[in-house]
Amino acid sequence: MTADAPGFVPTPHPAWLPDDAFAALGRRRVVVAGDGALAGTVAEEVAAATARFGGSFSRLEVGDGVADADLVLTLATDTDAGSASGTDPDAGEGFRLTREGGAVVVQADGDAGLLHGLFHVVRLGEAAFDGPDADETHAPATGLRMLDHWDNVDTHPVMGQVERGYSGGSLFYEDGVVRADLSRVERYARLLAAVGINRVAINNVNVHRREARLLTDDLGDVVRIAAVFRRWGIRVHLSVSFASPILLGGLSTSDPLDTDVAHWWVRAAARVWSAIPDFGGFVVKADSEGQPGPFAYGRTHADGANMLAAAVEPYDGLIHWRAFVYDHRQDWRDRSTDRARAAYDHFHPLDGAFADNVVVQVKYGPMDFQVREPVSPVLAAMPRTRIALELQVTQEYTGQQRHAVYLGPQWSQILGFSFWSADGGASPTVADLATGRAKAVEDPGTGAWHKPAGGFAAVSNAGDDEFWTGHPFAQANLYAYGRLCWDPTLDPADLLDEWAGLTFPGAPDAVRQALHTVLDGSWETYERYTSPLGVGFMVRPGHHYGPDVDGYEYTPWGTYHFADRDGIGVDRSVRTGTGYAGQYPSPWRETYESTRTCPDELLLFFHHVPYTHVLHSGSTVIQHIYDTHFAGVDAVERMIEAWSAVSPLVDPRLAERVAERFAEQLRSATEWRDQINTYFLRKSGIPDERGRTIY
Ligand code: GCU
Repeated sequence: MTADAPGFVPTPHPAWLPDDAFAALGRRRVVVAGDGALAGTVAEEVAAATARFGGSFSRLEVGDGVADADLVLTLATDTDAGSASGTDPDAGEGFRLTREGGAVVVQADGDAGLLHGLFHVVRLGEAAFDGPDADETHAPATGLRMLDHWDNVDTHPVMGQVERGYSGGSLFYEDGVVRADLSRVERYARLLAAVGINRVAINNVNVHRREARLLTDDLGDVVRIAAVFRRWGIRVHLSVSFASPILLGGLSTSDPLDTDVAHWWVRAAARVWSAIPDFGGFVVKADSEGQPGPFAYGRTHADGANMLAAAVEPYDGLIHWRAFVYDHRQDWRDRSTDRARAAYDHFHPLDGAFADNVVVQVKYGPMDFQVREPVSPVLAAMPRTRIALELQVTQEYTGQQRHAVYLGPQWSQILGFSFWSADGGASPTVADLATGRAKAVEDPGTGAWHKPAGGFAAVSNAGDDEFWTGHPFAQANLYAYGRLCWDPTLDPADLLDEWAGLTFPGAPDAVRQALHTVLDGSWETYERYTSPLGVGFMVRPGHHYGPDVDGYEYTPWGTYHFADRDGIGVDRSVRTGTGYAGQYPSPWRETYESTRTCPDELLLFFHHVPYTHVLHSGSTVIQHIYDTHFAGVDAVERMIEAWSAVSPLVDPRLAERVAERFAEQLRSATEWRDQINTYFLRKSGIPDERGRTIY
């Protein structure tokens, strides 16, 4: 699908780094001490800010005496900062913030910590200098904080240039080649660094013939992109085709156990790392939706991943191996196959079989980035495997950046979910599993989480659009994703404040309030008018925008709701259904198993029930469908009202873009309401008890 946002403009919106965000720091006397490459970047930022706002800047050696400074950004003298900034680019990202003799002092663990410390001070603004005395230590929850770009070098005939991209064209590629001018990439890298992202995969996981060549013939262009990101402490990764030895190497096979294949990858890796010594590694989508993989040779995913892992191991490279593997040629008549089961069924038996530098990248839900899904049981089922949680910042199924949907609350809920207890308690959360903070888990009987963890990955929502993200408010999602990777316990409402404060500096408080009114509950609002009770995929096939209740019902994709005249939902119980509920540890396997205990919001994901089934909320399923669809559209109207009152207070171009998006959101939400309500009225024959208009 072609992206609908206006394309490239020379100077994009500054997002969360407008000049004014640096005002507090720029008015001060600032010292930067450190001689690594990132210290150079920090020095440039500070020099520019102090020149702009009348402060002063000086650069010293670490350990030099400092007099008359308001802010000192320095490598810590009492740590082995040299090694932290030298061999492992992910080390040394933390920093300590104190006050000494009236000066704010950031002591960084390494070169990267200077950069993160700088942006921390930027976020604090005046509070960094005027607030109470601080002594805080900051370090990321994980060293693996990654964004995946689904960008194609060539424009794909169906998917466009950016697969599931809603923000114009690619930041990296233009007219079938890497852009000559990478200045936009530089701005992007700076924005990402400011929220803590430190790895970026620069091409689509569906690796087409042209894009496969980034690994070989076009490596020189990847070198250029990597050089831009390096200045911001971000390492570059490539998505690679598992069939590369055939596509690029002229071999007759890509069998992972074939010696020539393994050698081909060893040579490919050697070339990549000799050109880009801090290259991150490869992302692989194998045996998924038509991509090649080890199954063709009767091999397992561990065979495939480990062969690649051996090739990149000498360089400390990583293989991000995606667990999104399922049968996309299902027969809808066959009720025994359940797509939700697939990732667990494929990967759980392989726990412990993956090499140490393989990260198994798991989508947050068992289906596919739906508005509401239970958290994927795969995340809990592989204690001896490095697991990464994969999120989707691009809003494929959540309004495609035409609808204002702030995903921070969804992610926060997922990150805080615990598989081993209903109310959290002391048992590890998803964030703990992904960051490696879960040292030991009692229930699974498997003992310890003894591998380093796999961190976070997410599909980016940015493109060459003037506002980066199509909908200007979708910037908040990119912002929140980065910040939650750094600290998964941050409150999404606070992150919205941070984002609003930086993005609209000096705006009256009413703007911030309106943004909360619009965005705080926007994910649930979107859920209300699109996805009742955990039913997903009632979208138009192919592009996934707008309602089509039966669009996927008789297709091979495995995404069914099974609505008939009596009821709706998928029976995934162990007793009478597909058994998916049994993939969870206790207590969730029992909780999901029964309609009596299954949470309302996931009822139809786990059970097929009559329209008259009474929910915990007291409403029936059919009345819930009607009520939430009316409520969803009402909520959109209130969002628009709240924003309209303050929109004259912000940049008119931004206001215009938001107004245009809101008009579409209201049109689309109304369409959803009327189609879904009408469909279920016709199916069930049960009228709305409040007598509202249903067609
Ligand atoms: C979704 C999406 C595809 C994408 C796939 C993936 O199915 O619609 O465009 O390729 O996810 O994550 O690999």
